[in-house]
Order: sequence, then structure tokens, then C-alpha cells
Amino acid sequence: MTVSTAAPAIETSGLVKVFGETRAVDGIDLTVPAGTVYGVLGPNGAGKTTAVRMLATLLRPDAGEARVFGHDVLREADAVRSRVSLTGQYASVDEDLTGTENLVLLARLVGHRKPAARERAANLLAAFGLTEAADRQVKNYSGGMRRRLDIAASILHTPDLLFLDEPTTGLDPRSRNQVWEIVRAVVAHGTTVLLTTQYLEEADRLASRIAVIDRGKVIAEGTPGQLKSSVGAGAVHVRLRDAAQRPDAERVLSRTLGVPVEQDADPVALTARLSGVETEAGAAEQASRALAELAHEGITVDDFSLGQPSLDEVFLALTDHPATTEKETAA
Ligand SMILES: Nc1ncnc2c1ncn2[C@@H]1O[C@H](COP(=O)(O)OP(=O)(O)OP(=O)(O)O)[C@@H](O)[C@H]1O
Ligand SMILES: [Mg+2]
Repeated sequence: MTVSTAAPAIETSGLVKVFGETRAVDGIDLTVPAGTVYGVLGPNGAGKTTAVRMLATLLRPDAGEARVFGHDVLREADAVRSRVSLTGQYASVDEDLTGTENLVLLARLVGHRKPAARERAANLLAAFGLTEAADRQVKNYSGGMRRRLDIAASILHTPDLLFLDEPTTGLDPRSRNQVWEIVRAVVAHGTTVLLTTQYLEEADRLASRIAVIDRGKVIAEGTPGQLKSSVGAGAVHVRLRDAAQRPDAERVLSRTLGVPVEQDADPVALTARLSGVETEAGAAEQASRALAELAHEGITVDDFSLGQPSLDEVFLALTDHPATTEKETAA
């Protein structure tokens, strides 16, 4: 029997990057186990891309250490580069080439001979649902198609560690789902994925652990369940038929859910943030109990929803301030 001494996919301690006055990454400690999806969640300007670029050896840290599969990103950059691949936040494919041309070119660059490069390109285009678009110039692709081509390009050779920097920002729900499927398939083949995102829902669906970063620092770390139990598993929103019933509804909701209930600006609407529930099933069960109780008390509900917390709600719970974007910070 062999004892596994495999190093984590990523290990950083006190990682720092400063740009002028900005401490873009301000002392980050992370451990990413191999074979998992790790989510890095944060708003614009939090330092996600800067951290990823240091880990991918594209940017020199100013302080601290980072190791990828046990290799130091500065002293053993070549060993790191041979094991990682990066799908940047902004597409890296050539707009004037077709999907096939892009992938064949990149496959040639990573050392495939021409027939093998063609075959690999065709297989990836098929796997990513791009066969029909294979011979069109990339500038005529939709955002979702570009993103898929970009991820295809970064797994031409299967990397041990794949960085996906906001792979679904700006995509419609259908394209987002396709990218999620691809990420799951990549991980099923043994690749470790570090995924940055501004969506809690995305990190929750894909990642086994999540680090929340704000202004270059990790402000929370754990499993999605742990994170949601600290920030609340979501919010119940109800709209009543009759504004006069709102005080009664508020009482019933706060009694059944055991949390404070907020009156929205809309005079028939109420919001209750669930706490102490870790799973969507648990949240759904609480919400349905509350609905049954409202009906039992003769309160008519016109509309009801149960939503996951937004990034803003996560930040409010963790930091007492909403997720500030770069512009707001600078203003
Ligand atoms: N090359 C650079 N020169 C100067 N400042 C930079 C540079 N790169 C990043 N920054 C600054 O560092 C901070 C972190 O930026 P970074 O791009 O890492 O954030 P991010 O979390 O990736 O944001 P987004 O979600 O918008 O992509 C920001 O304040 C940004 O303006
Ligand atoms: Mg970024």
C-alpha cells in the first residue's frame, strides 16, 4: 500500500501584490486540495485576477509564498507552468480565426503534430457543442460560444490545474449552465479547478470549498454549507394581496421562521432572511412551513419566492458593508 503524500494543488501563505497605493492582494493564505473545484468569490477589484495571475506565474508576488503541486511559483516557475492552464477573464482566442483554426493553432503550439491537432480540435469542438460554428470566425460568436471556445483552448492538453477567471460573467442562464457542465466534466477527469466568480450560486453549485475575498483579503473560508449557515441560506420574499394584512403576515413569518422580517418599500411585500439553514432543501422546508402557516391564518399571498443570497447579502452578513466595487471605492 502506498501512503499518499500528494501536495495540495495550491498552497499560499501571506501572498501580497501591491500596485502603487493599491494592495491588490493583501496577505492571502489558501489551501486548495487536489482534484476539487475551489471557488474564489469576490466583487470587482477584490484581487481575484491578481491572485490567479501570481499563481499562474504571470505576475511576481511582492511578498509571501505560493506553491502549485509543491512547486514554488518563483523558483520553480517552469514546473508550475507545465501543470497549469489559465482561461483568462478576457478571451484569449484570435477573433479573426475560426474556431477550428484557433484550436489547431494552439494545439500545434502545445506540441501536437498537425493530424493530432486537427483531431483534438474537432473532438473538443464537438464536446463543447461548437461543431456547427467550427468554421465561422470567432468575432461572429456569441458570448457563450466564445467562453466555451476559450475553455476548450485551455484544456487542449489536460492540465492538472485549471484557472477559470469569471468564466460565466455576462453569460445568459443557458450558456452559464453549459459552462458549469464543462467544469464538472473537466474535474471528473481529475483536473483541479480554481474558479473565480462574483456569484455565490455559481460557487455553491461547483465548488467544494469557497474563499470570499474583499480588498485583497480572505474574509471567510469554508464549504458552501458553512458559508451559507453564517450568511443565511437565502431569503423568503412574499407579496400579499392586501397591504392591511402585512402586520399579521410579519408576525406569522417571524414566529415560524424565527428571524426578523423586513418590510420592503412595496407596501404589500415582506422579506425574511433565513439563518441557521445550510441546505437549499432545509430552506425550502422552512419556507413551505411559513407559507402553510400564512394560509392557515387566512393571509392571502399573491407571489412568493425563495432566493439564494446575493453577493451583496453575503458581504453585508460578513462585513457589514455591501460588496463595494472598484469605482465606488475610488470615489
Ligand atoms: N496592472 C495593474 N496596475 C495597477 N493596478 C492594478 C493592476 N491590476 C489590478 N490592479 C488593481 O488591483 C485591484 C485588484 O484587481 P483585480 O483585477 O485583481 O480584481 P478582480 O477581483 O479580478 O476584479 P474583477 O471582478 O473586476 O475582475 C484593483 O483595485 C485593480 O484596479
Ligand atoms: Mg478579475
